[in-house]
Amino acid sequence: MKLLDGKLIADQIKDELAREVRENFIDKGLNPPHLAAILVGEDPASLSYVAGKERSCREVGFTSSVYRYPENISREKLFEVIDFLNHDPEISGFIVQLPLPRHISELEVIERIDPSKDVDGFHPVNLGKMMLNLPCFLPATPKGIMTLLERYQIETSGKNCVVLGRSNIVGTPVSVLLSRKSNPGNATVTLCHSLSQNIRALTAQADILIAAIGKQGFVTADMVKNDAVVIDVGIHRIPSETSKSGFRLVGDVDFPGVSKKCSYITPVPGGVGLMTVVSLLQNTLAAARMKLPAVQ
Ligand SMILES: NC(=O)c1ccc[n+]([C@@H]2O[C@H](COP(=O)([O-])OP(=O)(O)OC[C@H]3O[C@@H](n4cnc5c(N)ncnc54)[C@H](OP(=O)(O)O)[C@@H]3O)[C@@H](O)[C@H]2O)c1
Repeated sequence: MKLLDGKLIADQIKDELAREVRENFIDKGLNPPHLAAILVGEDPASLSYVAGKERSCREVGFTSSVYRYPENISREKLFEVIDFLNHDPEISGFIVQLPLPRHISELEVIERIDPSKDVDGFHPVNLGKMMLNLPCFLPATPKGIMTLLERYQIETSGKNCVVLGRSNIVGTPVSVLLSRKSNPGNATVTLCHSLSQNIRALTAQADILIAAIGKQGFVTADMVKNDAVVIDVGIHRIPSETSKSGFRLVGDVDFPGVSKKCSYITPVPGGVGLMTVVSLLQNTLAAARMKLPAVQ
């Protein structure tokens, strides 16, 4: 078994991004790319994700800013902030950290974002372009998974790929990307969800298995074909007496069992999560370049 090392690849990409920021922006007297995040409420996971994104921006020389609002922000006020960021020429791209409080529709918020600044790639315009294989911002987690497969030169063409989970941000887009006529792509994809029957029989056929269902340790060794490639998207915090923070992260895959049987596997942490952040940075750089014809 080999690790699909998200940290290794994310660090390589960060080096590439930092070089590009230096050569194409700073050395030319231009402002570096600027990623903004809107953060509503105090959800600990969201706070930690946004802090991680800010840290990563600093590492590659981007500017970052966070617009923080209380849980009870009105829909109108949130729209006002989105409109402001849509029109601020200093901002290359921005995200609205999900989940949002229940009184605000996530779809309405996503639709309010200017697609040319939608570096999370969740806007229907970007998702539609993705469907048609047109240039667009790809959603960060699926993009990160595709980059991992590409950089490890994992063959996807003609392979059986099973995706567990059909969310709009992970399962559905990654299944589209893997089945597209491109490289990586050209896989035969089965997309499973909570109503799928006989999931074990399906996963046992998978050359590439992607688990994105949000159920800790769901994928066990008996569900996995020998030498399969296993991508674990799940993130769960579980209590830990040995870590300083008091918790540790695990995924949707039972790593100790499955890693004995597969050819490649992503660890949690250190796998898809880091690739997600770096993909967001890549989208932000692309957004910044689109707004600066001089550096294209
Ligand atoms: N690493 C990263 O960067 C990253 C990014 C995003 C999410 N995540 C993590 O990935 C996991 C999934 O997140 P998400 O937002 O994609 O998922 P989500 O919106 O919670 O959706 C879960 C999906 O899994 C399906 N599902 C649930 N139980 C199932 C079962 N027993 N068998 C088959 N399918 C089942 C659901 O089916 P239905 O549609 O039928 O309900 C749904 O499609 C979570 O742990 C999340 O924290 C990680």
